[in-house]
Amino acid sequence: MSPHDGARAAEDWLTLRRAADSQARDRGASGLLELLMQHLEAHGAHAVVVVDVGAGTGANRVYLQARLPWPQRWVVVDVDPRHLEHPDHGDATRVEAEVATVGHLLADLAARETDPVVLTCAALLDVLPTAELEALAGAVLRHRVPALLSLTVTGHVELEPADPDDDLVRRLFDDHQRRRACAGPEAAAVLTALLEAGGARVRSAPTPWVLDADRSHLLRRWLDERLAAAVEQAIASPDPADHLRALTAWHRRRRVQLDSGGLAARVHHVDLLVLPH
Ligand SMILES: C[S@@+](CC[C@H](N)C(=O)[O-])C[C@H]1O[C@@H](n2cnc3c(N)ncnc32)[C@H](O)[C@@H]1O
Repeated sequence: MSPHDGARAAEDWLTLRRAADSQARDRGASGLLELLMQHLEAHGAHAVVVVDVGAGTGANRVYLQARLPWPQRWVVVDVDPRHLEHPDHGDATRVEAEVATVGHLLADLAARETDPVVLTCAALLDVLPTAELEALAGAVLRHRVPALLSLTVTGHVELEPADPDDDLVRRLFDDHQRRRACAGPEAAAVLTALLEAGGARVRSAPTPWVLDADRSHLLRRWLDERLAAAVEQAIASPDPADHLRALTAWHRRRRVQLDSGGLAARVHHVDLLVLPH
């Protein structure tokens, strides 16, 4: 088993979430993108090199490529070689590597490239071990690159209607995210503290998913994935039986609400923009 197995993402899940991700970023983080563009313009950008870490099947590239007003060269990095084969990576340079190596990649690009380099990721930080957050912060600070780090889960979820066992599910899910020495829902705060301690300026913007009857496929899948993680966490706890009973009943109630179109969720994320001083 590879140390990254827990962080791997199914391709159909990445496809399913794309529209909600784009909507969340357009609604919540267009101001951060505008600031990034102003920063690059002030530094004389006529073209940019964009490094996307944890690039998956290319959703971040598809999103940003259409919104950045310059010619771009992309370098996409992922530990999963199957994702790197996805056609949405287009003519990007594909690098099978972990986030911890991004410092070497930035050093290499700094030696070869005259255009500004931008680092980006989406839906990545909360699945990274804290040691990789430290490596990422170190690379951003050392190479003084701007970074747009999107769609990090915060752990805050609002379900309508509320259910007495939402809190149990949240605790189990969040603890599941914290396994393998990951910061999970604290990832954005941990990374922000590391970057600010190193002198970078970090801005944030909320990018919640709004999941209702119009996004019922994603809502159903999100609910099932949330339950699966909570169950895995409950099984590993010292006294799983009560938790498992409560989880099964919670899921049954939620599925009934879903089937009747009577369930909505607001799943909170945060986007970060890091600008070197
Ligand atoms: C939730 S997916 C997000 C993919 C893509 N950014 C998107 O928005 O659709 C997280 C991605 O990060 C990759 N990943 C997880 N841990 C990693 C690590 N330590 N180094 C590099 N990639 C990693 C996974 O293989 C997966 O493709």
